[in-house]
Amino acid sequence: MGLLDYYRQFDDMDQEEVNERLREKRRLEKEKELQVVVNLDLATTEWPDFPNAEVMNQAIFAARGRVNGYPDRHATAIRGALAKRHELDPEQVVFGNGATELLQEAAHLLLAPGDELVTHWPSYPLFPLMAARAGARPVAVDAAGGAADPEAMLAAVTERTKVMVVCNPNDPTGDYLPAQSLRWLLGEVPEHVHVLLDEAYVHFQDIEPIDSCLKLVSEFPRLLVFRTFSKVYGMAGLRAGYVVGSTDASRELEGIAPPLGVNALTQAGIVHALKLGDDEVDRRRNLVIEQRKRILAALHDLPVDAPHSQANFVWLSAPGLSGVRLAGRLEEEGVIVAPGGPLGAENHVRVSVRGAAATERLLDALDKLRD
Ligand SMILES: Cc1ncc(COP(=O)(O)O)c(C=O)c1O
Repeated sequence: MGLLDYYRQFDDMDQEEVNERLREKRRLEKEKELQVVVNLDLATTEWPDFPNAEVMNQAIFAARGRVNGYPDRHATAIRGALAKRHELDPEQVVFGNGATELLQEAAHLLLAPGDELVTHWPSYPLFPLMAARAGARPVAVDAAGGAADPEAMLAAVTERTKVMVVCNPNDPTGDYLPAQSLRWLLGEVPEHVHVLLDEAYVHFQDIEPIDSCLKLVSEFPRLLVFRTFSKVYGMAGLRAGYVVGSTDASRELEGIAPPLGVNALTQAGIVHALKLGDDEVDRRRNLVIEQRKRILAALHDLPVDAPHSQANFVWLSAPGLSGVRLAGRLEEEGVIVAPGGPLGAENHVRVSVRGAAATERLLDALDKLRD
């Protein structure tokens, strides 16, 4: 309707009638808007909320300062804070541009063409890729049932194996290898093998203290432990992570460190995240643990299965449905999940654990699978 026609329709009405009609029109519009339900994205594993404003203000404040100069390439403040937190020497910590880049650097350092990298599978798709990028061959040890089997991992080691990767908790299955089992494995691997422990999701495990596995660096000089600020800290866009090793691993740590360090904005944000972030990290951790328990308990009465998870996601399968089909059925209910094929198992989907409202929508959507 044109503008003139729009106004003409009110010509023969008194003011009250016009107002009533406009009110009714708005009421109907509002009703329609409320009926639109936005999709719930449970396909990604990083923290969904916006970051702490104070932390970001610090990064922006740094951006307004001397960014014409190079940053502190040793990230002295961050390494000091992390060393204190983990009761380590600062020399045992290297800060880098996210765990992924540090892992890839480690692969370049430790692997030569023809070497092998052993990893349990399904796991983080970076691991086979980083082996290939270093000219080495990835060797996958089947862990389709969920848990990594340390004996099977050890049996896969050959003369050519130079690296073993353990993702703990594992992405995408969520299973967790306790420090005691890891200690056994580390004690058995031959001297020509370095073990890279990816602890991107470690804050979400509630089996043992958070540093239980990390502390094993004091017993095993060929263990390197990788952590990230992308997950529970919710700062994936800043690209920040670190690697921890034994006091005897200085050659490896120096070889992995980014030559000119990490940018000044990221460093400023992380310094403040470490100062201010602990309460928020605890709140997020507790939320995930609580909602994960709720989801896993509810699955008993639903037509889906999942191994126990120690991460901020669960690894679901539905008898008779492929992962793609299961993801499609959930999408019809407005819940987006990650199909398992690219993550290593066609008949699964990975579903992130969020707050209580998200849990309810997920469980409702899973309930509809019965129809
Ligand atoms: C197991 C695992 N490690 C590392 C990362 C990425 O860490 P960053 O963002 O620090 O590179 C991810 C992200 O998906 C992951 O799943």
